Amino acid sequence: MITIVGSGRVGATAAAFLMFYEVDNDVTLIDIIQGLPQGEALDLNHAAAILGKSVRYRGSNDYRDMEGSDIVIITAGLARKPGMTREELAAANAKIVAEVADQVKKYAPNSIVIITTNPLDAMVYVLYKRLGFPRNRVIGFSGVLDSNRMAYYASLLIGIAPESIIPVVLGQHGENMYPVPEASFAYGKPLTEFLTSDQYNDVVKKTIQAGAEITNLRKFSSNWGPAAGLALMVDSIKKNRRRIFEASVYLDGEYGVKDIFAEVPVVLGRNGVEKIIELNLTPEQRQKFMQSIEAIRKNLTQVPPEYLK
Ligand code: 2OP
Repeated sequence: MITIVGSGRVGATAAAFLMFYEVDNDVTLIDIIQGLPQGEALDLNHAAAILGKSVRYRGSNDYRDMEGSDIVIITAGLARKPGMTREELAAANAKIVAEVADQVKKYAPNSIVIITTNPLDAMVYVLYKRLGFPRNRVIGFSGVLDSNRMAYYASLLIGIAPESIIPVVLGQHGENMYPVPEASFAYGKPLTEFLTSDQYNDVVKKTIQAGAEITNLRKFSSNWGPAAGLALMVDSIKKNRRRIFEASVYLDGEYGVKDIFAEVPVVLGRNGVEKIIELNLTPEQRQKFMQSIEAIRKNLTQVPPEYLK
């Protein structure tokens, strides 16, 4: 059973993508807004009937209904508005994440938890501290999104399919994320062999600004990309596919840093994070990675200290 906490656009779209991938036939949507998760569940059940998918959706305002979940996806929290950075949401969302974490700990103590709430790397840290689960079971979403956004922008310039690119974006899911086209490959060739330096800069810039661009254009933040990434991550965990994705995970010495969540490549399987892949960074790349890590540490100072214990 999979539970999605938060029935806003990201939660509801993730629920639909889980159906397309036939990840699990029991999906529960939980939200504090009366009627919202129930309505989404009913609409999704109709969609499943039309598509001939044997998924049963349930909607609830009661956290007890997550009991028995092996995976919990947390999408609850405020989303940014046009002109806002993700970092500005730190204090308000830390409270929400801590409250949800207490419920997950109570009702789904053995679950693997994936969170999308922004500012991502700070919120997954709050979640981890509050849950007290082993680090392999606490995962921050976003790396799949950032890295595939980079693959998308590069693919338009190179003229190959985005899925033929293995993209690398490291560090923060925020203004200081570190896209690394030189560590990203298309059939063994680094992207730098396909891109001029202007194109390289363009790809990096567009990747960093992608989330803000969507928000500025349509006045609310992304849901299709996050939901697609969530469905694939959950699919790899549920079916023990052990695919490599980028995700924000707790680093305990990997990449030379400790006690911080940051985006790096990981293997996702039945135990959640099965392995953290450490890339060999050049001194210059390492410096950029560390700048991104510092931005995450700075963001953590904006979280009320009671949520960091
Ligand atoms: C994004 O990058 C909102 O953080 C989300 O689109």
